[in-house]
Amino acid sequence: MNRDLASNNTANSLNQELFQRIKRLKKEMNAIILAHYYTVPEIQQVADIVGDSLALARAAEKNDADVIIFAGVYFMAETAKILNPRKQVLMPDAHAGCPLADSCPADEFRRFKEQYPGSIVITYINSTAEIKALSDITCTSSNVEHIIRQIPDNQQIIFGPDRNLGAYIAQKFNREMALWQGYCYVHDDFSEEYMLRACAEHPDAELIAHPECQGEVLRHAAFVGSTKALLDYTASSPCRKFIVATEPGILYEMQRRSPDKIFMTAPKAPDNHRGVCTQMKQNTLEKLYQCMVNRRPEIVVEETLRLAALGSIRRMLEMSPG
Ligand code: 13P
Ligand code: SF4
Repeated sequence: MNRDLASNNTANSLNQELFQRIKRLKKEMNAIILAHYYTVPEIQQVADIVGDSLALARAAEKNDADVIIFAGVYFMAETAKILNPRKQVLMPDAHAGCPLADSCPADEFRRFKEQYPGSIVITYINSTAEIKALSDITCTSSNVEHIIRQIPDNQQIIFGPDRNLGAYIAQKFNREMALWQGYCYVHDDFSEEYMLRACAEHPDAELIAHPECQGEVLRHAAFVGSTKALLDYTASSPCRKFIVATEPGILYEMQRRSPDKIFMTAPKAPDNHRGVCTQMKQNTLEKLYQCMVNRRPEIVVEETLRLAALGSIRRMLEMSPG
């Protein structure tokens, strides 16, 4: 047996052992495991629900579990806690933050807001509880278009923290929007030049992109959509080959749904080594198991802050499509 195969077999049997232990603990704790599509495949395999930010916020809102274990990044688990003050919310690794969320400190955002009096503040769920507390409506990439359609045409909008998603929406709906200049390094780093080369090399493939990518990439895409929209598109499209401009963790679910199609991660410049969301990958099976055994790290949100942030999340859930 070659060494790679032997170490794969050992890893597989360790994973199987952890799967069994996690399943047993889950029953004992009456816990539910929620995981984002960007986590590693073994986390997606052991989770009860795998989804995008909106699906996971909904799952966190409506479940019978006593304990929610959130394999994602911090703002996702924090949102789950804001919706469930009486449930214990755990994370495999509480250091798995989101640099996009962290790029928008509350005091600076408050000053930004003051420059646009009378504006409605719509913020991406990839933000801290403090920012949600300063916002009127939270949104995700799945429901932002639906929410914007409900805002009167003459209403000035402040949007943050993702400048690319904001610019995409402002252009699509021809809306005036004051944009916070944050970005997600995974999506913002795709290069137009290398993307065009990949399209030329694979003329039979469709380029599809998440709206967190820059406009110069989005304008070449055959389809632009949220994580869920991209998944649905690849499953229903007659096209057999896709160049996917988003976090590569999604390829696991795309391939699972469409085993006979070909998926390629969109290229970045050769000197760019920020291909994946390292924060999402901090969720390992071992850490998941340990967080269940130790019941920590536990997410705690101070009650005044929780109540202040809850309004914009509730408004999002009310304004989202059914
Ligand atoms: P969605 O899950 O809403 O598509 O967001 C993508 C993302 O970057 C999550 O952090
Ligand atoms: Fe944040 Fe980007 Fe990672 Fe999503 S993919 S968690 S936006 S850094």
